[in-house]
Amino acid sequence: MNKVVIDNTACNGCGLCEKVCPHRLFQIENDKASVLLDGCMGCGHCQAVCSTGAVQVDGIIDRLEFENFPELLESLRPGSSDCGKLVQLMRSRRSCRNYSSQDVSLTILEDLVKIGTTAPSGTNSQSWNFVILPQRTDVEVLGNLTAEFYRQLNSQAANPLYRFIARLVAGDKLGEYYRGHYESVAKALQEWDVDGIDRLFHGATAAILITGKKDASCPAEDAMLATQNILLAAHALGLGTCLIGFVVEAMRRSVKSRRAMAIPADEEIYSVIGLGYPAIHYQRVAGRRAVRPRVLHLGTK
Ligand SMILES: Cc1cc2nc3c(=O)[nH]c(=O)nc-3n(C[C@H](O)[C@H](O)[C@H](O)COP(=O)(O)O)c2cc1C
Repeated sequence: MNKVVIDNTACNGCGLCEKVCPHRLFQIENDKASVLLDGCMGCGHCQAVCSTGAVQVDGIIDRLEFENFPELLESLRPGSSDCGKLVQLMRSRRSCRNYSSQDVSLTILEDLVKIGTTAPSGTNSQSWNFVILPQRTDVEVLGNLTAEFYRQLNSQAANPLYRFIARLVAGDKLGEYYRGHYESVAKALQEWDVDGIDRLFHGATAAILITGKKDASCPAEDAMLATQNILLAAHALGLGTCLIGFVVEAMRRSVKSRRAMAIPADEEIYSVIGLGYPAIHYQRVAGRRAVRPRVLHLGTK
């Protein structure tokens, strides 16, 4: 539970803190705000909305202190940003599968993690955690652990007796894997082992892993929202990125990988992002399949 401190001399009793608090913890009496109830989840809306700086919530750091670009603390009013530019950035981010060998500085990776934490999180739990692999050799360690996992999975999946028994015990998941992925994984493993071709991280020179506390209200959603922030900001900082779902799947099932990546037992892995400087620049933004949203007019006028 976070503690809210109100400086009575600065408070002008405007009541905005009362209006924005999701848990309605404030009351205004005699033109001064006070906190009535416990239950603060530390979202900081009261602190951010206060024009006189009278409200302070424990544990909220306004300054993230980025190393690689200026930090702008003034909140942008809705409608005051260039939406065209924002969408152009969103559409310019593509999954990168061709990197140069240039390293990404640790400060950029640390800035990206801070940017990740600006995402919303269920009940403001912010129960994500981040692992940074700053060098290609670190990424290769995770690549080798992942290859080890898939080598074992492929040898099980290739065995008809094993598939039969697995089906009796746990349904046809192994059979589905065999039919859908066995061959392409076998080829990728062969390329990794024999030719040193990296079909997993595509040669990324760094990686960020995002975990969440298993007992948080929605750790997977939180982690993926942080992920998207990182992907967009990475593009703005000149980096290419690619989500690597194959590694997430392997890490979920491999205690050895999780231990090697220093992930505690009360956390689950939700996202693995490969990063590096892109070797290829695209000429056009991303195209997508057309969607037809179901527009419902359910109310009566
Ligand atoms: C959850 C998730 C997992 C993914 N895993 C991989 C992966 O293991 N390898 C890969 O090359 N791309 C992976 N991708 C990237 C998708 O293939 C990519 O986002 C999609 O083709 C759209 O292309 P774009 O990201 O360039 O717009 C993943 C994407 C998501 C959302």
